[in-house]
This record gives sequence, C-alpha cells and structure tokens, in this order.
Amino acid sequence: MLLQMALLSLVALAGTGDGAKTKTRTHIRFYMHDLVTAFPGRPATAVRITTGTTPVPVDPRVRFGDMYVIDDLLTEGPDPASPAVGRAQGFFLFASQTELAVLLSFNTVFTAGPYNGSTIALVSRDAFFDEVRELPVVGGTGVFRGVSGYGLLRTHIFNTSEMNAVLKIDMYLRR
Ligand SMILES: *[C@@H]1O[C@H](CO)[C@@H](O)[C@H](O)[C@H]1NC(C)=O
Ligand SMILES: *[C@@H]1O[C@H](CO)[C@@H](O)[C@H](O)[C@H]1NC(C)=O
Repeated sequence: MLLQMALLSLVALAGTGDGAKTKTRTHIRFYMHDLVTAFPGRPATAVRITTGTTPVPVDPRVRFGDMYVIDDLLTEGPDPASPAVGRAQGFFLFASQTELAVLLSFNTVFTAGPYNGSTIALVSRDAFFDEVRELPVVGGTGVFRGVSGYGLLRTHIFNTSEMNAVLKIDMYLRR
C-alpha cells in the first residue's frame, strides 16, 4: 500500500516536470507473436473481424478492408517460450488497394518487468514487405504518461501459408 502511494506520487511528480530537462531516453526491444493460424495449445491471437471488398492483386486471399483484432503475445526474445513482457492489443486494417499494407494500431500493455501495468499507444502504417516500418508513438500511461518517440518494426519470421509472423520491435522513447 505504501509502495503504491510512493509510486503514485512519483508519477504525479513526473507529470509536473517541465519538458525537455526531465526527459529520459529509453530503448526497449521485444518480439510480437502474431498468430492468424492456431496450433494445438496456441490459440489464434489475430482474428479477422471484417471482410473487405476487392481482393488485393498481390495476394488475393486478402481484401481491401479486411480487419483483424489482435491480442498478440510480446516476449523478450524471438522464441514464444521466452519470458513474456506484455500484449499488443488493437487491430490492423488492410488499407491499401494495391499493396499488402495495413493501418496497425495497438496498445503495448506491459505485464511484467519495470514497466508492468504501463502502456504505450501506437498508430502506424505497416507495409509487410518493407524491411523496416516506423511506429509513431501517440502517448502512454503509467510510467509512460506523456511519452514521445517511435518504434522500428522488422519481420523476424513470416510464414505465408499460415500468415503467422514473429515481429521484432525496437522502441526509442523519451519520457
Ligand atoms: C504485474 O502487476 C500486476 C498488478 O500489480 C501483478 O498482479 C503481477 O503479479 C505483476 N506481474 C509481474 C510478472 O510482476
Ligand atoms: C509454414 O507453415 C506451414 C503450415 O503450418 C508449415 O507446414 C511450414 O513448415 C511452415 N514453413 C516454415 C518455413 O516454417
């Protein structure tokens, strides 16, 4: 209880800090497990919730307007069995008629480690075959209240038949 109050007052102090002078830089790396196809003991974490209109020519399995809700596991390493750091909760929407490119928006919800209980909100364009995609940070909660910065997203593994992916994310934050 006391610890909780101490943490609350720290957060309150951080809230009154005056901008650039009090900002600290943080680099966080984690891996995101986007499972469209389920396996025994591993349910899908990316589930289509709308079906779009016109098939996208580069991959007619995909339609312009398809939308998936995600609750993807985030781990320290690329192996899904490595320690969990949180979940990526949000959606992606196929928003290009010509490319495999989505509007990807999610909250990074930390469930372990020093950021447990805090979140970072992201809105981005993810063109699947670009080597590096940028993830603009919109804001955050908890220790990340008032955060700014960006993430870099890289495909670590993508299985085209399953449509399952392991994505590597590096976040560069100022708070
Ligand atoms: C994260 O925080 C929650 C809520 O305070 C707590 O129940 C949980 O045990 C914490 N998890 C870890 C791995 O520290
Ligand atoms: C991709 O997924 C299919 C279907 O689960 C599997 O048979 C294949 O081995 C996977 N490919 C790779 C490179 O892991």
